[in-house]
Amino acid sequence: MVHLHIIIDDKEAAKLTIDPKTELNKVFKTKKSILDILLDNNIQVNFGCFGGSCSSCIATVQQGQEYINPEGLHPKVYTGTKEHQILTCISTIEDEAPEDAIIELAFMKKMRTAKQGT
Ligand code: FES
Repeated sequence: MVHLHIIIDDKEAAKLTIDPKTELNKVFKTKKSILDILLDNNIQVNFGCFGGSCSSCIATVQQGQEYINPEGLHPKVYTGTKEHQILTCISTIEDEAPEDAIIELAFMKKMRTAKQGT
């Protein structure tokens, strides 16, 4: 079991306990992405392309980076992620994460835009 803690806009939004071995996408016969797990649990975060190219689904990993495969579904196209950031639409949780693993992810609801003009 993995304990998934979700923070949105600096507030605790959800806590899930999941078994990564059983989180499978039945249509595509692959592991579920972290984004799939969140949406299946009615946790509303930003997303766009579902393919690792738009960066809408970006999250900052505050804890448990070692239990995440950041390109578990396929390699990312968007290359602007910083250290400790993942694209949740292509990231998966490692099957071998220990029973007491905690993954804490922080999302921003509003997309941040670059400052204009200065
Ligand atoms: S939804 Fe576009 S990169 Fe994840």
